[in-house]
Amino acid sequence: MTSLKDPYSRTIDYLRLAVTDRCNLRCVYCMPPEGVPHLSHDDILTYEEITRVLKVAVGAGISKVRLTGGEPLVRKDLDRLVSGIASLRPSLDISLTTNGTLLAAQAEKLAAAGLRRVNISIDSLREETYRSLTRTGRLADALEGVEAALEVGMDPVKINVVVLSHLPEELDDFVRLARRLPVHVRFIEYMSPCGTFDGDYYVPAETVRKALEEYGDLRRCEPPPGAGPARYFSLPGARGTFGFISPVSSHFCPECNRLRLTADGKLRPCLFSPDEIDLLKAMREGAGDGDILEAIRSSLAAKPRDHGGLANGSPGRTMSQIGG
Ligand code: 5AD
Ligand code: SF4
Repeated sequence: MTSLKDPYSRTIDYLRLAVTDRCNLRCVYCMPPEGVPHLSHDDILTYEEITRVLKVAVGAGISKVRLTGGEPLVRKDLDRLVSGIASLRPSLDISLTTNGTLLAAQAEKLAAAGLRRVNISIDSLREETYRSLTRTGRLADALEGVEAALEVGMDPVKINVVVLSHLPEELDDFVRLARRLPVHVRFIEYMSPCGTFDGDYYVPAETVRKALEEYGDLRRCEPPPGAGPARYFSLPGARGTFGFISPVSSHFCPECNRLRLTADGKLRPCLFSPDEIDLLKAMREGAGDGDILEAIRSSLAAKPRDHGGLANGSPGRTMSQIGG
């Protein structure tokens, strides 16, 4: 197998692919209440263009692809893209990060197209908190998405929880969820430079881990497939597990294996790097597969060793614009 390396000898085998900058929610930490200006239809990669980039990327060593947004499920017929990507190589690991609110209606089609696993973002399991965090969302819709993903056999199903100051009080709800359902609840430290609000929202993952110890014998356990930089723990009697992703308190740049492609076709070597290569423009001006490969290599050559400390960096665009 060929592989892609960056200048720090890291193997890059994971592409995060934003399929849209649009979202049906307005999470307080992600967007201002009025949303952000949308890209126009002509400024985003078509499914054919995405598949073409992926064909080259997979040939060069990418073996895992995650579809992100914005909210990927607001883009029409996403299953068509999934089946196009899945046909590139049967062993390709395709996953999706979604807020889940539109998943119930699409889970079956997506699974049939080749999507095997999913991460669903739910920051609170209380209707009112959920509504105020997402500004517009209905918790019941997201939970239906979780049930639908389990029903169609997606495995693993992970629940992403950005740890905000309300969480310690609501931890109970997530413990109950993982007791009831075989889902992996992952607590993610809030990265303020990416967010649209500041203040004392940051709670270290360690605080949540300590609080979980109150529920029983919390033990390190095997991570589910595609765990990335998370550490996982189990509690007796729970069908699911608990994971911690600590971008703020513990740097995981040394193990970084990822490259990003934004909805408007820009290759980005790091969430925090403003260095973007415009593949959309290149392809529309006639770039061949060799040029695409060259662009991927150039992007990796510009991959920084680390983001220089989250306090200093800013991605320059919102998470919904880059792809979370
Ligand atoms: N800090 C941490 N996580 C964030 N996400 C979005 N913005 C931030 C932030 N500032 C999360 C989303 C989703 C994942 C892709 O990233 O909630 O779970
Ligand atoms: Fe949408 Fe995700 Fe941003 Fe919330 S965090 S507004 S669900 S893109």
